[in-house]
Amino acid sequence: MKSTTRIGAAAALLAVGVSAQSFRRLGACPTLGCVFPPDQADFLAGQYFDIRLEVHQPTNGSEAIGLPLDEKFTFSITKNGRTAPVTDYFKIQEPKLEKWNFTWYEDLFARDAKNASFVNVAAKAYRRVALYEPGEYTATLNYNNGSKTEASWLVRDLAEERKTKNIILFIGDGMTTNMITAARLIGHKSINGKYQTTMAMDKFPVLGHQMTHSIDSFITDSANSAAALNTGHKSTVNCLNVYADSSKNAFDDPKVETIAEMFHRLTGGHIGIVTTAYIADATPAALVSHTRNRGEYGAIVDTYLNGVQNYTWTNVPIDVLFGGGAEQFYPPSLGGVTYQGKDYYEEFAKKDYQIIHNRTALLSASNEQKALGIFTTSNMAKWLDRNVYRQNLNQSLSPTGDKTAALDQPGLKEMALKAIDILEARSGDKGYALMIEAASIDKMMHVLDYDRALGELLELDDTVKATIAKLNSTDSLKETLVLVTADHGHGFDVMGSVDTHYLAAQNADRKRRDAVGVYERSGLSQYASTGNLTYTDSNFPSTWDPRYTLFQGLMADPDRRENWSVRKSGPRVPASEQVKGDDDFYANPKEPVGITLNGTLPIENDQGVHSLTDVPVFAMGPCQELFGGVYNSIDIFYNMAECFGLGRGSPSANSTKY
Ligand SMILES: *[C@@H]1O[C@H](CO)[C@@H](O)[C@H](O)[C@H]1NC(C)=O
Ligand SMILES: *[C@@H]1O[C@H](CO)[C@@H](O)[C@H](O)[C@H]1NC(C)=O
Ligand SMILES: *[C@@H]1O[C@H](CO)[C@@H](O)[C@H](O)[C@H]1NC(C)=O
Ligand SMILES: *[C@@H]1O[C@H](CO)[C@@H](O)[C@H](O)[C@H]1NC(C)=O
Ligand SMILES: *[C@@H]1O[C@H](CO)[C@@H](O)[C@H](O)[C@H]1NC(C)=O
Ligand SMILES: *[C@@H]1O[C@H](CO)[C@@H](O)[C@H](O)[C@H]1NC(C)=O
Ligand SMILES: *[C@@H]1O[C@H](CO)[C@@H](O)[C@H](O)[C@H]1NC(C)=O
Ligand SMILES: *[C@@H]1O[C@H](CO)[C@@H](O)[C@H](O)[C@H]1NC(C)=O
Ligand SMILES: *[C@@H]1O[C@H](CO)[C@@H](O)[C@H](O)[C@H]1NC(C)=O
Ligand SMILES: *[C@@H]1O[C@H](CO)[C@@H](O)[C@H](O)[C@H]1NC(C)=O
Ligand SMILES: *[C@@H]1O[C@H](CO)[C@@H](O)[C@H](O)[C@H]1NC(C)=O
Ligand SMILES: *[C@@H]1O[C@H](CO)[C@@H](O)[C@H](O)[C@H]1NC(C)=O
Repeated sequence: MKSTTRIGAAAALLAVGVSAQSFRRLGACPTLGCVFPPDQADFLAGQYFDIRLEVHQPTNGSEAIGLPLDEKFTFSITKNGRTAPVTDYFKIQEPKLEKWNFTWYEDLFARDAKNASFVNVAAKAYRRVALYEPGEYTATLNYNNGSKTEASWLVRDLAEERKTKNIILFIGDGMTTNMITAARLIGHKSINGKYQTTMAMDKFPVLGHQMTHSIDSFITDSANSAAALNTGHKSTVNCLNVYADSSKNAFDDPKVETIAEMFHRLTGGHIGIVTTAYIADATPAALVSHTRNRGEYGAIVDTYLNGVQNYTWTNVPIDVLFGGGAEQFYPPSLGGVTYQGKDYYEEFAKKDYQIIHNRTALLSASNEQKALGIFTTSNMAKWLDRNVYRQNLNQSLSPTGDKTAALDQPGLKEMALKAIDILEARSGDKGYALMIEAASIDKMMHVLDYDRALGELLELDDTVKATIAKLNSTDSLKETLVLVTADHGHGFDVMGSVDTHYLAAQNADRKRRDAVGVYERSGLSQYASTGNLTYTDSNFPSTWDPRYTLFQGLMADPDRRENWSVRKSGPRVPASEQVKGDDDFYANPKEPVGITLNGTLPIENDQGVHSLTDVPVFAMGPCQELFGGVYNSIDIFYNMAECFGLGRGSPSANSTKY
């Protein structure tokens, strides 16, 4: 990691207007003059980005200062002591002034009283510019006749030499070190304190820790955390590769170019996306989407095919898209919810994609043709339901929209290995970047279904193991950087064991708690593989339903009942409303009787939430040494960009050779 020390005058100028914490007028803009990218932003040399300026005029509330709306603000860029108006610096036209207004609540009291503060906005956007010369820049917005907002920007100085041909980035969504430890305990046998086998992740030569916080909140969601990994720019919850502005349009926010976009634009490299979530979900979307609202699923699917609409941008053909989310593909006549009502299977087929709907077809698909594999509506079925409790497979519906069950679904490993085959065949000497997401570690942790979450984690590890073996067998391991990391955590841990038979025999909650065994009473894992390879050739538990289970849980929950036993009839629903639609969640009465536990989260939460913890980064391959230590999530972007040699000292530089 490069030193990012900078001349720190800019931050001191920011005077925070209100004690905004839970609610903010605009997250990364505490003053009335907003510059995006904001102060402290880092850039890759030659990376495209948009600049958004906003001047706010609060007409009431605690920030109202009685000034008229300033429509004559100015903006300049200073580099090496020379200052130029932004239009001169970038040699671009002055854009037209935009105006809008919005309201916001200053705190919970204001929200309860519906006492919204009102703000008028004057704004401009300078689209698709880039900074080439490494070093410090100061961007200055002058507004309100004497106020100014300065942003200190840093263009990192990275070598242009390419060191890896390919990068495979595995994301265990929501995966923490605690979960990996628990998965190891249930999937791997230990004798007298010595593990007989370990996780594939355990064998990586380099381990780092990344900090996942957002730009304007310390807890992140999967959209802005993925954006940080993909662009090197932190952003706001729900943002995909844009900074959040205050306008209503979810697509006009200032964009930042992603590593997939730069990799393709500068080197002609190929791109693949694999997930067990619906394909428009935040983590896969973050390779190429640019929107304030991660929920714009239809438009996200359109971006995969057609690139960013309505703005000149870097459009990237994607070779492989595997996952769920068929409802954003089949037309509204079948119940689909698609961009502009189109049939996206047809749209993809028109652009020469093979369309794949099940495991059988996946395994026999061509390696030479671009591939869209959509295997279910919504999220794909979980490893535990595909492999152990197969009667639950009907939790996912057919990708064709005919409402039948999706019984022939591939697993993460099959999707990943096929994606590699296709990318290797199609990319030739240009190389590829492939993102593979185990999405339901997060989704199952959210619903407190720890067993399913750990099953997904073990499936991820099994996929990592198979990927490394495959790359090694084709001799491409030495030219492929393999990374395994997460986008954020959940407050999960294991504190002991539970004697489920004793628990079931008690009828008072305080007595039931005696079933929990801590310290020496935790005993040893009864899940771990005893060589029972019924399910797979890898390390998964030989039983998911032992008498002594893990005493496991999260830091913050809705009301729920716990009996710490696997849910054999499908993913757990921990909390439900007593009055449908009233957003007041209680322990789900359909859950097994166990111990009833009161939640600590606000009552509208029916699930657990993300947590603050740093998450691990495992690295193997060319450039692996860049990934050791403790660093910010954005550094993963800069390190990957450095390995691919993507920094560009001038608009015409094209030194990337591989
Ligand atoms: C509304 O907010 C303003 C300014 O924040 C405050 O002065 C006023 O008392 C609030 N009104 C109510 C009804 O809470
Ligand atoms: C500010 O003005 C808006 C609309 O004019 C009004 O709805 C709101 O209650 C006002 N808020 C405060 C804090 O005065
Ligand atoms: C706020 O903007 C809307 C248009 O987006 C406009 O209709 C409305 O009049 C504006 N409100 C005020 C108080 O200026
Ligand atoms: C700006 O401020 C100067 C003095 O600081 C004052 O003379 C001038 O009238 C102000 N202009 C406006 C438009 O408020
Ligand atoms: C840079 O070189 C690559 C590989 O030769 C080529 O595919 C790409 O189009 C070039 N890009 C530019 C901007 O010249
Ligand atoms: C692009 O612009 C068209 C025409 O204004 C509009 O219908 C469409 O919704 C826009 N798409 C996006 C993704 O913003
Ligand atoms: C799998 O997909 C192929 C090709 O679309 C189709 O012919 C076959 O019937 C499908 N199999 C199942 C089990 O749905
Ligand atoms: C799935 O199948 C099980 C067992 O066959 C059945 O009990 C359940 O109702 C089915 N669920 C759905 C959603 O069809
Ligand atoms: C790759 O294969 C070789 C030969 O079988 C083996 O020695 C080596 O350990 C393998 N490397 C990895 C990382 O699995
Ligand atoms: C716990 O709940 C599961 C799921 O409903 C049930 O199968 C199991 O029998 C229960 N275990 C105990 C010990 O009550
Ligand atoms: C292996 O696991 C399966 C599934 O639980 C079970 O049916 C089978 O009896 C087990 N075999 C052994 C040898 O334990
Ligand atoms: C849970 O909260 C309710 C009140 O909402 C209280 O009556 C009950 O005793 C609490 N239960 C536990 C186990 O703390």
